[in-house]
Amino acid sequence: MTSAKKIALITGANRGIGLETARELAKKGIHVIIGVRSKDSGEKTVAAFKSLSASYVILDVTKTADHKNAFDYIEKEFGHLDILVNNAGVYLDNLDASNSKPNQTSTTSLEVIRRTFDANFFGVIALTQTMLPLIKKAPTGRIVNLSSILGSQTLHSDPNSMIYESKAFAYNSSKVALNAFTIHLAHELKDTNIKVNSAHPGWVKTDMGGAGAMMEVTDGAQTSFSLALLPDSGPTGGFFHRGQILPW
Ligand SMILES: NC(=O)c1ccc[n+]([C@@H]2O[C@H](COP(=O)([O-])OP(=O)(O)OC[C@H]3O[C@@H](n4cnc5c(N)ncnc54)[C@H](OP(=O)(O)O)[C@@H]3O)[C@@H](O)[C@H]2O)c1
Repeated sequence: MTSAKKIALITGANRGIGLETARELAKKGIHVIIGVRSKDSGEKTVAAFKSLSASYVILDVTKTADHKNAFDYIEKEFGHLDILVNNAGVYLDNLDASNSKPNQTSTTSLEVIRRTFDANFFGVIALTQTMLPLIKKAPTGRIVNLSSILGSQTLHSDPNSMIYESKAFAYNSSKVALNAFTIHLAHELKDTNIKVNSAHPGWVKTDMGGAGAMMEVTDGAQTSFSLALLPDSGPTGGFFHRGQILPW
């Protein structure tokens, strides 16, 4: 089946920035597919969308079988995918038992680095590769990769930058790698109607950002939302926070 309606898939959309991004897109009349890791979570999230157009799909980004199921569901129900927001992410640096002091790159375990990269990098690449044939069937495609300012090598190497002391190696390097994916995929697709960009949402009050974060989740969703709805004249292969260009 081919739907005339715009279709968006947002990973990790049962809470935090992903949930708010999905809500904002649904308010624009887009059918949102909520990526969740359990049926219970999917049913509760979709029910909260009330009259907005939403459905859910079980999608652990680290599981390729889930990617295939999500592809089959979207192909069968909608025939194309306009927007993919690679939002799901983890921050595991604090869980590392071998890393007793914060910011200890030299003792960050490979296990934590691998688990972080599985969700924040490899999962994004594999899911995007799986979804690309459906995105190519959309009139205009938008891929938004939720990065972080902590993935900026330029700012990390500048002693005067506000993030200079925030050296959470596993998380930060996964977002550096994700930014490379954005640049490379955008280059491959530069002559198509698909735009690929990295988003820094800001420091947002979510389970990951913590209660001390500066931004409310409604504001934190704005960068993803606007990159998901970029006009054809908009940029591709960039790194943005609320319309501002960030350095790689
Ligand atoms: N909050 C900030 O200040 C901030 C700053 C910069 C960048 N970001 C980025 O923004 C994105 C969203 O962050 P957030 O603050 O909203 O995080 P959050 O509140 O911790 O929510 C994370 C979401 O990702 C999902 N998730 C985690 N691992 C997953 C996996 N393997 N497969 C599928 N879903 C998975 C979670 O699902 P479950 O409920 O099933 O665990 C949850 O829905 C992340 O990529 C993060 O790195 C956040």
